[in-house]
Amino acid sequence: MKRIAILTAGGDTPALNATLYGAVERANQLNIEVYGILKGFSGLIDEQVPHVVLNPLFSTIPEVDPCRGGTVIGASRTYISPDERELLKQIVQRLEKLQIEGVICIGGDGTISGMQALCDLFPCTLSPKTIDNDLGLNYLEEPGEWRMQTNAMGKPGYELHREHASIQLEEIVNYATPGYATAVYVAVEAIGRIRTTAESHRRIAIVEVMGRHSGYIALGAAYGQPDMILLPEVPLDFGKCAERVREIYDRQQNVVIVIGEGITDPDGRPLGAAHASTDPAGNILLEGAAESLRKMLSAELDADFFRHRSRHESPNQAIFTRKVGHTQRGGRPIRFDRFYAAQLGGKAVDLLQEGQNNSLSILQYRDREGFTLESLHANKLRDQWGRIHARTVHPAFYDQNRFQPSRLGIDYLSPIFDNAIGSDDVEFIRTTFFDRGHLTSRYPSVTVDMQKRIRHLDDH
Ligand code: F6P
Repeated sequence: MKRIAILTAGGDTPALNATLYGAVERANQLNIEVYGILKGFSGLIDEQVPHVVLNPLFSTIPEVDPCRGGTVIGASRTYISPDERELLKQIVQRLEKLQIEGVICIGGDGTISGMQALCDLFPCTLSPKTIDNDLGLNYLEEPGEWRMQTNAMGKPGYELHREHASIQLEEIVNYATPGYATAVYVAVEAIGRIRTTAESHRRIAIVEVMGRHSGYIALGAAYGQPDMILLPEVPLDFGKCAERVREIYDRQQNVVIVIGEGITDPDGRPLGAAHASTDPAGNILLEGAAESLRKMLSAELDADFFRHRSRHESPNQAIFTRKVGHTQRGGRPIRFDRFYAAQLGGKAVDLLQEGQNNSLSILQYRDREGFTLESLHANKLRDQWGRIHARTVHPAFYDQNRFQPSRLGIDYLSPIFDNAIGSDDVEFIRTTFFDRGHLTSRYPSVTVDMQKRIRHLDDH
């Protein structure tokens, strides 16, 4: 191969540039030119295919810095449907005109589904990323356990009928995705800071973390020692939850609860929408899971409860919510993410080179060796209808009675987080955080430098 293209699709993560870096460095070793396609699949849809040469003369451009969060080539949530045959053909023609021989997509489950359409006509591989840690399987047979059925709200959908009550860590397919560790790091830091306010003011804090329907970020947030963790995988048993809150508040006069944004009620309705009102346009207003839980707890723990215990005037004053939000997705990646993102990016180049179309580089955990790089055909992730489902936290990782990770859950987290932060991460904070120069110079956005490097199909 002489020239390949690479794109970053879906929501950003802190480790995208690290993956780009790993891919480009590997391509340098193999004397392969790498074109970075701008803004994910939308760059391919654009007739002009805006792109940047990421390794002129086989040396990586300095903008592709593994320590820089986000993606210097931009990302979008635009995907190509397999039904758009004409568009797909045009894309292939454009790629051929650019003399590109294969495409690496850096992305999650949405990206791999988007990539499928292109794979039928053009060689593609994927390097995984997502803060949600939901691209992968708890075990290889998992896709076969999905059934099509109507849910409690009468909507047709898919439901997982799990046959494995427990799992071995070595069975997990793609143990952790780049971006996850940094997202957990940010969430843990937020919890620590919120805790001291909860303690000082005798409050109940509800901290909402991202992850959609997968509770890995919430599970990892256990490092911040929240009193309770509510996962989206376990429908809320409000009675049990309120009882636990009372117990903890009675003991220490403050409670910190972490809630995964996708949590549902026992009927499978997202909690964030459970108390929805309608806005003037008639749309359902999603209030957010934490906010819904706050309202439920405020109604449950009446004014007397707090007046007796801590002299708060009302539950509204005592219970507060915070979303960690997009800070989970941004900024400098911590060492675990940087290192494995770069490795996975390099491996995706090797897969393309070996002719492994429609496959992805994955990170496996082996008891003796630790993490190893392997590959997987994308179809292994698909159920019998061809769908890729977001991986969810296996029930064996969570203790529903204690609202905490189980022993196995702790065993799962340890290999990722034991050495996730490098001394250079600490040094980075020490030397750059209060850099005096920041007070006098404007933020030097990398997009300005990248802009100068953009080329188009017609320039060739
Ligand atoms: O999939 C990554 C993710 O950050 C989810 O955890 C979150 O629900 C979603 O993306 C937010 O998307 P957006 O940035 O488009 O609001």
